[in-house]
This record gives sequence, C-alpha cells and structure tokens, in this order.
Amino acid sequence: MKLAIHKSLGSFSERWINYCDENDISYKIVNCYDSDIVKQLDDCNALLWHYHHANFTDSIMAKQLLFALEQSGKSVYPNSNTTWYFDDKIGQKYLLEAIDIPFVDTHVFYNKKEACSWIKTQDFPKVFKLRGGAGSINVKLLKSKREGLRYAKKAFAKGFKKYNGWIPFRDKFKKFTKGNESGLNVIKAFGRMLIPTEFMKYSPRERGYLYIQEFCAGNDSDIRVIVVGKRAFAIKRLVRENDFRASGSGHILYSKEEFDIRCIAMAFELNKKLKTQSLAIDFVFDSSDNPIIIEISYGWHVKGYDSCPGYWDNDLNWVEGKFDPYGWMIENLTKESSL
Ligand SMILES: Nc1ncnc2c1ncn2[C@@H]1O[C@H](COP(=O)(O)OP(=O)(O)O)[C@@H](O)[C@H]1O
Ligand SMILES: [Mg+2]
Repeated sequence: MKLAIHKSLGSFSERWINYCDENDISYKIVNCYDSDIVKQLDDCNALLWHYHHANFTDSIMAKQLLFALEQSGKSVYPNSNTTWYFDDKIGQKYLLEAIDIPFVDTHVFYNKKEACSWIKTQDFPKVFKLRGGAGSINVKLLKSKREGLRYAKKAFAKGFKKYNGWIPFRDKFKKFTKGNESGLNVIKAFGRMLIPTEFMKYSPRERGYLYIQEFCAGNDSDIRVIVVGKRAFAIKRLVRENDFRASGSGHILYSKEEFDIRCIAMAFELNKKLKTQSLAIDFVFDSSDNPIIIEISYGWHVKGYDSCPGYWDNDLNWVEGKFDPYGWMIENLTKESSL
C-alpha cells in the first residue's frame, strides 16, 4: 500500500479513486481527521486530499497536516508550493508582486487611520474583498469614497462574517425569478441562513485589515485557466446580470475560441515560477486589454470543468478531446515519489 486518499463527497477524491481502480493502482482510503492519521500513513508514501476552504475543520488543520507529512519526506497533494496561499488573497498579493507577474493593483491596510486617509485620496469605484471565500461571495464593488470609508470603519470595528448566508440566498433568488435556478436550491440557501453550517458558526469575523483592488471595468466575464503539470485547460465565466462578478455565476463557456492564448501562456509562465501541482488562475482584462490576474487557487469545483473540450500542452498546442486532470495529478505524484 503506497497511496492514501481522503474521501469526501463532490471533491477530486471520487475521480482519483476511479483513476486508481481503472489503472490497477493500489490505494487506501484514510480519514485525515483521525488523531492517529500520521501513524495510519506509515505504510504509504503519498497522501491525496482535496480539502475545502469552507469546511471549518479543514480550515484549521489541513495545511498543518499536509506540511507536516511533506517535511517527513512523503509526497502530498496539495503540497506547500501548491497550497500555502490558498483561500488567502493577502498572501497571493504579496506572492504575485514578489515574482513580478501581472496582478491587478491591490492595496492592503492594517490600520484604520492609514486606510481612511488613503481612501480620501482615491477615485472610485474599487473592489473590496475579504481575504477568503469563493464564488464572488466576499467580493463587492465600492462605488464611492463614502462607501469605501464605511467599509474601512467596519473592517477595523466589528468586521465581516466570513460567510454571509444572505448573499447566496439573494443571488439564488434573483436567478430563480429569471428561471435559471431551481426552487430547491433557493430553499436550501434559505435553510442555510436559519441553520448555519459549522463554518458559519465557528469562523471568527474577518477584521483588522482592509483589502482593496483597482477595478478593471468593462469585463463581461472572467477567464479561469487551470494548469496541472505540463497541461492547461480553461473556462470562461460570464458575469451575473447587472453585476461585475463572474465567479459563481454558473454561466460558463467552454469552446476553445473563447480563450485569449495570452492567458494560457501566462498561466504556464506563472506555474513555472510557482512549481505547483495544480494552479487555477482567474484573469480579467485591464484598460489596455491585457490579461491581468485577480486571484489564484489550488482547487476547483469538479463538475464545472467536465465539459472542457480539450487542453493545451506547454507549447500551447491544442489537444482536442476528453481528458482526466485528476489522473494527471496521480501520474505526476507517482513520478515525483517514484511509487
Ligand atoms: N479587480 C477586479 N476588477 C474587475 N472585476 C473583478 C476584480 N476582482 C474580481 N472581479 C470579478 O469578481 C469575481 C470574483 O472575484 P475573485 O477575486 O475571483 O473572488 P472569488 O474568490 O470569490 O472567486 C471575478 O470572477 C471577477 O469577475
Ligand atoms: Mg475567483
């Protein structure tokens, strides 16, 4: 037994297990929450775990366990190069600035006075974000200085909920009225507000910092490119109606013609510098129509990518046809750990 997989519903694990079964790769299923997990991995040289940012337990211990195993010489997915900045937009700002990759101008403040005096010198709109979150839930357009100051004051007082159940409910309800969402999902989102998840109950409020990005106006979509090793694939997400936010909109385009090849080239270039096992990069276009990064991540929602019609190799050649990035992860890990 050499490979260990933590199984969780809707994660990469289902695909990893299928790949191992189909290719006669032996594995064992483990539960990373067990206190003796390190011992359980004695007979394995690799662990794969697609942990989730909105699972409270994962958020307090997944990186710690993975890094510890990595230090001991085991191969892990995701490893530290792949995941230290995951769900941490502040970390991403420093990282992308440090390696000189086109990243949208981003400002972060750690005290109210400095934040407020800066805001007073600025033009608006600008984009406010919390450091964590996905699906645009913690991203908001600040339309005026006044609104900017209001957010700054809140950031250094009671702060913001990490997951505000009202926002997905409102989004889903809007989609429902246009016939783009099922009633069941609206009811579920309503239930989420009444019966909060552990993540909603236990997560501390976000405060003590203010994160603001320059607004790249005029984008009707964002482009997400995912690099796994020497291959990349992409989706285009259209913004919500009367909104600037694409991620989580559910309106996805897949055909190759949708993608500016500069995004794919930049994605490979970034991954060459970061040396990750998987990297999802969100691009918009700046006022000179150049692709610019707004956010990076290690994971993604599996189902949203099953319809990709092909991928690019690292010479930017298009390879048409179905493919299995979860299998690529195992192939790459196997090479790395010479299982
Ligand atoms: N600086 C920006 N300028 C223009 N649009 C942006 C900017 N930042 C984010 N967006 C839009 O908002 C969406 C969500 O932002 P993102 O930083 O990717 O957060 P999330 O982690 O929720 O996906 C993006 O998909 C993009 O459409
Ligand atoms: Mg995003």
